[in-house]
Amino acid sequence: MSMIDPFGRRIEYLRVSVTDRCDFRCTYCMAEDMTFLPKRDLLSLEELDRLCTVFIEKGVRKLRLTGGEPLVRRNIMELVRGMSRHLESGALHELTLTTNGSQLARFAGELALAGVKRINVSIDTLDPDKFKAITRRGDLSIVMKGLDAAQAAGLHVKLNAVALKNFNDREIPSLMRWAHGRGMDLTVIETMPMGEIDQDRTDMYMPLSVLREQLDEEFTLTELPFRTGGPARYVSVAETGGRLGFITPLTHNFCEGCNRVRVTCTGTLYMCLGQDDAADLRTPMRASEGNELLANAIDEAILRKPKGHDFVIDRLTRKPTVSRHMSVTGG
Ligand code: GTP
Ligand code: 5AD
Ligand code: SF4
Repeated sequence: MSMIDPFGRRIEYLRVSVTDRCDFRCTYCMAEDMTFLPKRDLLSLEELDRLCTVFIEKGVRKLRLTGGEPLVRRNIMELVRGMSRHLESGALHELTLTTNGSQLARFAGELALAGVKRINVSIDTLDPDKFKAITRRGDLSIVMKGLDAAQAAGLHVKLNAVALKNFNDREIPSLMRWAHGRGMDLTVIETMPMGEIDQDRTDMYMPLSVLREQLDEEFTLTELPFRTGGPARYVSVAETGGRLGFITPLTHNFCEGCNRVRVTCTGTLYMCLGQDDAADLRTPMRASEGNELLANAIDEAILRKPKGHDFVIDRLTRKPTVSRHMSVTGG
């Protein structure tokens, strides 16, 4: 019952965006003035559970909830607790989420109790003013309390930082030292041209090959075989004893080993983050109480999974390569 695409890649990782809403407005992700989907278009939590369950029956082993901000979806813990039955049965190996951390102080304990072991938290800077500037709405001190709560609850935390030229590029070494000092891995990410934002992405784009050269001057980095099932390639950092991951969709394509697909909060399946082709799963799901139509729609879509994304550096302008915003599929 496994899902294998035309390029022989086994699909074992499902990313589900449970809401397109977010309490932040990160400049590389959203416009200041975003129009979100009407709530009536969202799948219910029961429908999300049903959808995820069908994917797990079809071979998904790693499930990541994203958004928008997943923890702003009302009653989201019902879905998380529901999914933990698949951890208990052994069908699902990892249940996790990517969050901006704003609600973590409230949810960390419950997440750990539901079987979540590891979460990814997005923090691009440790400077409170710059944090406010990049997220437009975020408060770093609240996110810090969230991190404390997550670690106190025993969750392993990985930080994600989008590398942004003239914004945080010079700060990555100190962000890394800080993260590693607290026992957290750090992953740096190249900004991807998705959705209309209010800025020109060429001004923000920082190739991670350049960052790597800078880091090599200061640190001893050694490639690691360590993988998490995501796109990051890791190095160990001798000076800190921690791990640093690089996500390089633009300078070093990693599509060859892609193992994932994503579903939006309206039940649309995207076979690739960097392409607009999609399949509607909501209609077949609602068309019958059984899951056969839904399973068939998934099988058919997997056969359309493209070889790779369409992000290209010289099209990093105001006009995005992919029209939908990152928050629709949560990355
Ligand atoms: P781990 O389980 O820790 O490996 O997490 P992850 O990297 O799979 O997930 P996370 O939500 O932390 O994503 C980090 C970054 O990787 C985000 O900017 C995502 O958009 C990006 N990313 C994840 N999967 C893909 C992918 O298939 N293609 C591209 N281009 N970017 C991806
Ligand atoms: N390019 C790269 N990463 C992005 N993220 C959001 N928008 C973009 C973008 N345009 C990151 C967030 C979060 C993860 C899910 O995706 O910072 O860590
Ligand atoms: Fe929200 Fe994440 Fe987008 Fe920032 S990157 S606006 S936290 S969805």
